[in-house]
Amino acid sequence: MMSDSALLPVADADAAAPDDTLMMDVLASQYRLSAVAVADRLGLFAALAEAPSSAAALASDRALHPHGTAVLLNALAAQGLLMVHGGAYHPTATARSFLLPGTARHWGPMLGLGWDERCTAVRTLVTEGTPFGYRGKGIWDTHNRSRHHGELFARAMHAHSAGPAAALAARLELGDCTSLLEVGGGVGTYSLALAGRNPRLTAQVLDLPVVERLALRLIEDSGLTGRVRLRAGDMFGDPWPGEQDRVLFADVLSDWDDEGCRTLLGRARKALAPDGRLLIHQVLLDDSRHGSDSAAGYSLALAVMTGGRLRTLPELASLLAQSGFGACVTTPAYGHYSLITVRPD
Ligand SMILES: C[S@@+](CC[C@H](N)C(=O)[O-])C[C@H]1O[C@@H](n2cnc3c(N)ncnc32)[C@H](O)[C@@H]1O
Repeated sequence: MMSDSALLPVADADAAAPDDTLMMDVLASQYRLSAVAVADRLGLFAALAEAPSSAAALASDRALHPHGTAVLLNALAAQGLLMVHGGAYHPTATARSFLLPGTARHWGPMLGLGWDERCTAVRTLVTEGTPFGYRGKGIWDTHNRSRHHGELFARAMHAHSAGPAAALAARLELGDCTSLLEVGGGVGTYSLALAGRNPRLTAQVLDLPVVERLALRLIEDSGLTGRVRLRAGDMFGDPWPGEQDRVLFADVLSDWDDEGCRTLLGRARKALAPDGRLLIHQVLLDDSRHGSDSAAGYSLALAVMTGGRLRTLPELASLLAQSGFGACVTTPAYGHYSLITVRPD
């Protein structure tokens, strides 16, 4: 009998359940009102109505942060409040009706009633370019200092990843692979699902020491002690094992800026065996960056919480090329997720 605090192992049946598109839509929608309220308070709809412009030009004119402004404008475009023509953002008819100050229908006062900590977080991103994390404190630093926060997050990620991990394990052909290194693997949700389906596979899960207690219990409860091992440490500073058949980043690169991603990808390149492959499992932005409300909203949520963001496939491919990888193969995988597979160049 499992105690209250144990995590539930991922079951094969999770792969056949409805995918998590609706749940991800709910999660990604948490900054919808904040995005509109912040744009209204910073006068962005009025500014773009007067002079439609690119995110970079708008940020430069109004002393905003270019990255934060771009993520915000794409979230607003995905919500149907901005349109993009020739790289310039224009308020849509709805935005012109309800979001221009000085008219009876201006919704600014109503949006102001909804102002909360999320709005402050989005405003911080747009004005200063910094993530808000937990009330201004970095989320990974907070987890390193507080087991309570770290374990809450690890539980949340396990719940979030159980479905996509089971679906990936059911579809991914791992052939003769015997070694997998999962970087930023949390409590090992993906590694456990993959090892459970592939009897020859041994997996190592690299993550911060705070996940250790929950991960070790989950590994034991999954019956995979010895085949899935936790490597507690810092993925930027501590050594990684080499000669791996596969290295996996699941929902990890989207937590980091380009420099952080290049560091992680460079380390992955060195950790792979010559015929090994890197696997990246995450949500991609479409090339316009605002074709999906969920993806653009999720990107805003990531920027606010971690300082990362979602990327388009060309953006990811460029980071991969700069880090010594060849052409990538992308497969829509599950819900909003895609699997990107790539070999060292
Ligand atoms: C968004 S979660 C993804 C977890 C897991 N891959 C999944 O999809 O369920 C990002 C993970 O990166 C880990 N992480 C952040 N900074 C790290 C560091 N410096 N070293 C190792 N792990 C780190 C976090 O603890 C967290 O588990």
